[in-house]
Amino acid sequence: MATGLDDVVAAETALSDVDGLAGRLIIRGHSLDELAGGTSAEEILGMLFANAFDQGPTPALLGAARVTVFKRFEHHLKSLADTPVFDAVRACVALLPDDDALETALLLVAAPAVLVPALLRQRDGRPAIAPDPTLGHAADILRMLRGQAAAPAETAGLDTYLVTVADHGLNASTFAARVVASTQAGLTSAVLAAYGALKGPLHGGAPGPVLDMIDAVGTPQSAEAVLGAMLARGERLMGFGHRIYRVRDPRADALKGALAKLPPSPRMDLALAVEAAALRLLKQKKPDRPLETNVEFFTALLLDSLGFPRDAFTAVFAMGRTGGWIAHAREQAISGRLIRPKSVYVGPRPREAA
Ligand code: ACO
Repeated sequence: MATGLDDVVAAETALSDVDGLAGRLIIRGHSLDELAGGTSAEEILGMLFANAFDQGPTPALLGAARVTVFKRFEHHLKSLADTPVFDAVRACVALLPDDDALETALLLVAAPAVLVPALLRQRDGRPAIAPDPTLGHAADILRMLRGQAAAPAETAGLDTYLVTVADHGLNASTFAARVVASTQAGLTSAVLAAYGALKGPLHGGAPGPVLDMIDAVGTPQSAEAVLGAMLARGERLMGFGHRIYRVRDPRADALKGALAKLPPSPRMDLALAVEAAALRLLKQKKPDRPLETNVEFFTALLLDSLGFPRDAFTAVFAMGRTGGWIAHAREQAISGRLIRPKSVYVGPRPREAA
């Protein structure tokens, strides 16, 4: 039995295709290589939502949703200051309306974009900054985070990140969203299920630990010894391996390309030494199982360069992935059936049945 449902087809989708052998991600007919670096967060949302709602998600509607989210939660920020960022965003998301309307979808997309910067500022004792609905989504997120306009290369870097992680087949969080949507529950319920799945370190919780691991290595010369000791203790090297990709994760390349356009990060040389050592050691440890760099390795470096603290990385992932979750939830609700797999009972049987 495939305990992790490997190779089980659980849905048909016109949204994205993860070709693990070719190392290719297709989103709505375009390869990620084509999309990354030239597509905005709004454009990818438009592509993902094309068949999901009667109306398209315009930049103006998304800007208005950012303003609504800020007004709705501005007065909750203080009471959430001691709650971990991801949990605080999830708590606010739970309070949004739970239906299938485009307005709700846009509030769900806007929620992490507005709340992550606001919660981070609140925690540091700085006032939260209201959204500017006339700005692009990525530019506004960075402005709300820093209190000043970001450089165009930084805005482009965040756009590349949001596009790169927008959708990725039937990953754990998207599957969770589809399961909930298959019961005809509302979009907020589906997205909340996805938040739960995203949080784990085997899925969206990896990039913070990636940075911890790079910092623990300390110098390029120690990479081999520190990572070797981790593997000897049976630990996993964060940011490596993937259930489907058997060659390099194309998202890692997209994010590495975005990083190259930013001023050099002080961690970059160390990170590249860690990557090289990790790939060498993993090849030795598992010669038959390709374990390559995954999206989370370069996510950690890119989000760090853009000024997000590591404990917010998973919530920033939700900024990008919410559009994908919603598109899948709508696809499932419109054309799918209730998802209800079987289990094999391996417990004791009543005496009379023996
Ligand atoms: N470091 C060390 N060993 C590894 C790693 C790793 N990063 N990844 C897999 N392995 C080993 C496992 O220990 C296992 O060995 P075993 O057969 O001796 O027990 C073997 O390779 C196969 O691993 P599985 O866990 O069966 O592979 P799976 O497809 O379930 O793993 C996963 C995919 C969870 C991403 C895994 O590679 C991992 O834990 N990576 C580290 C965490 C990480 O980077 N997560 C982010 C993933 S990307 C995303 O979700 C957005």
